[in-house]
Amino acid sequence: MGDTMNKRKIILDVDTGTDDAIALMAAILSDAFEIVGVTTVAGNLPLPQTTANTLRVVSLLAPHIPVIRGCAQPLVRDLDPRRKFCDNEETVVDETGHRIAFHVEEFASLPPATLQPSGQNAVCWLVETIKNSPEKITLILVGPQTNFATALRADESIVTNIEQIVIMGGGFDERNSSSSAEFNFFMDPEAAQIVLNCGADITLIPLDATHHAVLSMEDVQEMRSWNTVVGNFVADITEERIKAYNTFQPLFKPDSASMHDALCVLYLLNPAVITKSELFRVDVVTGGGVCDGQSIIDARPTAKKRKNCLVCLRTDDELFSRMLLDLLRRANF
Ligand code: BDR
Ligand code: CA
Repeated sequence: MGDTMNKRKIILDVDTGTDDAIALMAAILSDAFEIVGVTTVAGNLPLPQTTANTLRVVSLLAPHIPVIRGCAQPLVRDLDPRRKFCDNEETVVDETGHRIAFHVEEFASLPPATLQPSGQNAVCWLVETIKNSPEKITLILVGPQTNFATALRADESIVTNIEQIVIMGGGFDERNSSSSAEFNFFMDPEAAQIVLNCGADITLIPLDATHHAVLSMEDVQEMRSWNTVVGNFVADITEERIKAYNTFQPLFKPDSASMHDALCVLYLLNPAVITKSELFRVDVVTGGGVCDGQSIIDARPTAKKRKNCLVCLRTDDELFSRMLLDLLRRANF
């Protein structure tokens, strides 16, 4: 799509995932970026599904972009004997027996993928691509951070060729995967801690901001009125997500669903979508137990450690939904 001159070069790392799919669509349809590649990771679903879903989205909208399969397991999460519990919500079904969930196994309403994943693993691809890029690269990490953390462990010098990293992860007044943790950090706390402390320019977009990045039933109706593949697909998954939010975690706006990952893309397109942010020191708990994966801000004025990220704390929810619908409407087929 479009001329690549002067566009910000980005790599998206995704665990597609319904809101990941919307983030990808928004990034592609904005035509504001040169998307160097999309790397996949296990998270919302096992790696084969996150990769297959990503391939469907990219095949539909931008088949020239490579999709590279990454890590199927978190770094060390499963090896730690202190991690012996999982307190995710139990399975809930609706009146027809249909499972209420945030993510669907397969994006069956999109045309089958025409693309295959590249032969290389995402970790090697990230190291090579970032190292050899003539311009600095911006990373958008919206799944567990396993791929980039492993790439950093393989070659930490790649940080010098990173323009910025935008991460969906963490939560301070909000959590969604345990009593203390957000999903992406909960799934691979060690990876999150490595990435947050890599020294790059990092913007962290936690649940405090993304729980105000919502689409509503009115937006669903508007998307249906377009009668397009993308409009109907996003309307379907928004309805599913609204059911899940209403069941598990009602949001500030009735009948709405958070589209966490899309906020990272919209923030790069227009930082005004974030209305409150502050530089902080953030660390992730890696010790197992009830706080495993929790993100902690050190807000003490006398704290000695370097402030490692700009933390986004509030979203302009109207600007968010307007921008997102304006982008999705561009896929007019
Ligand atoms: C994050 O977890 C995933 O379920 C979403 O795709 C998002 O990246 C929100 O906590
Ligand atoms: Ca995600």
